[in-house]
Amino acid sequence: MINIAILGYGTVGSGVYEVIGTNADSIKRKAGKQIVVKKILDLRDFDDHPQKELFTKNYDEILSDNEIEIVVETIGGLEPAYRFTKSALLAGKSVVTSNKELVAAHGTELLGIAREQNVNYLFEASVGGGIPIIRPLNGCLAANEITEIFGILNGTTNYILTKMIKDGISFETALAQAQEKGYAERNPAADVEGHDACRKICILASLAFGKAVDSSVIHTEGITNITLDDVKAAEALGYVIKLIGYTKSEEDKVICRVSPMLVPNDNPLSGVEDVFNAIMVRGNQVGDVMFYGRGAGKLPTASAVVADVIDIVKGSDNKNFIWESSDKDYIDDYKKAEIAMFVRASGTDEASVKALFGDKTVVLNKTELCFITPADTEENLVKKLSMLDGEVITTIRVMQD
Ligand code: HSE
Repeated sequence: MINIAILGYGTVGSGVYEVIGTNADSIKRKAGKQIVVKKILDLRDFDDHPQKELFTKNYDEILSDNEIEIVVETIGGLEPAYRFTKSALLAGKSVVTSNKELVAAHGTELLGIAREQNVNYLFEASVGGGIPIIRPLNGCLAANEITEIFGILNGTTNYILTKMIKDGISFETALAQAQEKGYAERNPAADVEGHDACRKICILASLAFGKAVDSSVIHTEGITNITLDDVKAAEALGYVIKLIGYTKSEEDKVICRVSPMLVPNDNPLSGVEDVFNAIMVRGNQVGDVMFYGRGAGKLPTASAVVADVIDIVKGSDNKNFIWESSDKDYIDDYKKAEIAMFVRASGTDEASVKALFGDKTVVLNKTELCFITPADTEENLVKKLSMLDGEVITTIRVMQD
């Protein structure tokens, strides 16, 4: 029997309790031991809970309990999650988390402490909710050098964009629905402004390329400026708008960014709807591999947390889940990456656009001029756009093959 504690009985924490109860027999068979929730930390009262005696408001009761070997941190945010995680690792307990904010901000240090203490710090649920991605990156794909990772990493924004595209409902209504379904962060600004997706692509980049990618310096745009007019223009042209996290390793540097992108209808990412996430990993031997599933929600995310717990109980060796710290020069300027740009502009004409961007520019709509530039570095495209007559209404990056 292995005793665990759950820190934070919110959406994911209560899901962990539920998954362990519902699938107790099959979990015992796979882990080789019964997993028992011995304590739950939460500041709120749960007097109606069938096991209300498990609840405590005092973290020291968990920290000092030598029978608790694994701590599940589902509090979210930086504090007190950071303090609790660090002290648990230092006390020789393994920690499993879904907290991408903490992993992105302090993963280098916490993984280092776990390694020194010969315990685990696992975070499968921090990226892609229920989708296996962290372990496949370090396991099944380990023989590859990963060159690029990109995809839809936030369920809330994908849900909102899908509802805007399919049902024509407003941004606000769709966000309220995502909150009701338990997809959104406590502060949904982290979802809609792209910070949640940024933390996730930084965790993947750190793990895949072996050096920390600091989310606080990554160029991040959310979906708050995307209008129904943008969505309709994209649709008319054979594209859908998705929030895409992107990273690429080149020589000793990494490019990373989060932004809305036009995804062509024939690209598999275009069909990823609602709360689903999809992550494309490009390896130098395997080519492209796509991971797809529910990227948020109570039970999908909790199932990934519990899988990490099972892995620890089984005694799997997870010491390769680690990355080194990096210096500032490691992150390259995203504007040096080649990209095509979708532009909506007024007060200009096709001849002016072609004079600046060349004859290969596709001019898609001449009433309100919409065009897709040929691929060039983003800094060149921005310079050229500043020379265009008239007003640029929107620019959105375009995903290419
Ligand atoms: N708020 C996150 C999302 C939850 O919508 O994807 C899962 O990380």
